[in-house]
Amino acid sequence: MRVLVTGGTGLLGTKVVELAQRRGLETFSAARRPPAPEAPPAPFMPLDLTNRASVQAAFERVRPNLVIHTAAMADVDACEREPELAWAVNAEGTTYVAEACRVHDARLVYVSTDYVFDGTAGPYREEDATNPLNVYAETKLAGERAVAMLPNAITARTAVLYGWAPGIRSNLVLWLLDRLARGEPAPAATDQAGSPTLADNLAEMLIALAVGRQTGVYHVAGATMTDRYRFCRLAAEVFGYDPDLIRPIRSAEISRPARRPANVALVIDKLRRDVPEARPLAAREALEVLRGQLTGRLPRPRLPDGDR
Ligand SMILES: NC(=O)c1ccc[n+]([C@@H]2O[C@H](COP(=O)([O-])OP(=O)(O)OC[C@H]3O[C@@H](n4cnc5c(N)ncnc54)[C@H](OP(=O)(O)O)[C@@H]3O)[C@@H](O)[C@H]2O)c1
Repeated sequence: MRVLVTGGTGLLGTKVVELAQRRGLETFSAARRPPAPEAPPAPFMPLDLTNRASVQAAFERVRPNLVIHTAAMADVDACEREPELAWAVNAEGTTYVAEACRVHDARLVYVSTDYVFDGTAGPYREEDATNPLNVYAETKLAGERAVAMLPNAITARTAVLYGWAPGIRSNLVLWLLDRLARGEPAPAATDQAGSPTLADNLAEMLIALAVGRQTGVYHVAGATMTDRYRFCRLAAEVFGYDPDLIRPIRSAEISRPARRPANVALVIDKLRRDVPEARPLAAREALEVLRGQLTGRLPRPRLPDGDR
């Protein structure tokens, strides 16, 4: 099977490429810029989602049977600042990918977001009503609509993605660990809940979905529903830092361009039922996996005086 992974240089895409290769699938990584030198090697296709011809050319060269579309403008505040670009990448770009999948008769797995919900009635199931609160979410939902037109496609909504890969942008846990390593307190919202998801675990679950026969919308996320404050305290504990460095705040105290939904935890029962080989990790388990990966890469935790 020939697999094209868009966004193959991002956090999730790097993990999907690595795992698909380990599964013995002939895998191609696509993005605008080539991967970081220390990233796992994979054949690379230049791809710009804002350019239909570029998408078509990548499909012509790879001729994929399966496309895992992780590429996106995924920085929520950047989307709010540059809405035209966000629409071009996330909505139109996904439409071009869906069109090309139709032409090449390829199965498509599109990665979407918990932010399609407004957070007033979480946790959410797949069939619950969507109501995006920001540009990022609107553009991702438009992508979902394009994907829904295909006969052989999955929309996989995920949440609060974290993990480490070479050359990626930061995420909640990397930001937190950086602050804690410097002994700085870290503010975390008590009124913003979700289903934090380790990128490695998500990649495994996406591949399990991709090689199956299911179609339609699936929630694919970590097994623990929690608010940011409690999750950050847990992360501090797992990484050997003082959890009291995490300071509870209300999300209204954080000034950011894009509105965030309050509770967008995702119910993952449908995934568990239909794809038993997908194994969503609980938050502690997932953080322990990340701690194993980061051993030797992070500054040593500062221990309280009595523990030295
Ligand atoms: N991060 C989260 O908390 C979160 C939560 C829910 C859902 N998601 C979804 O999960 C997916 C993966 O997120 P991530 O955090 O792994 O993203 P990421 O690390 O920011 O990676 C994004 C990838 O998309 C590529 N890309 C961006 N603009 C492009 C363009 N115009 N043409 C082609 N490629 C482009 C980037 O490479 P180049 O810049 O080199 O092109 C990069 O490979 C996204 O679809 C996102 O919407 C993320």
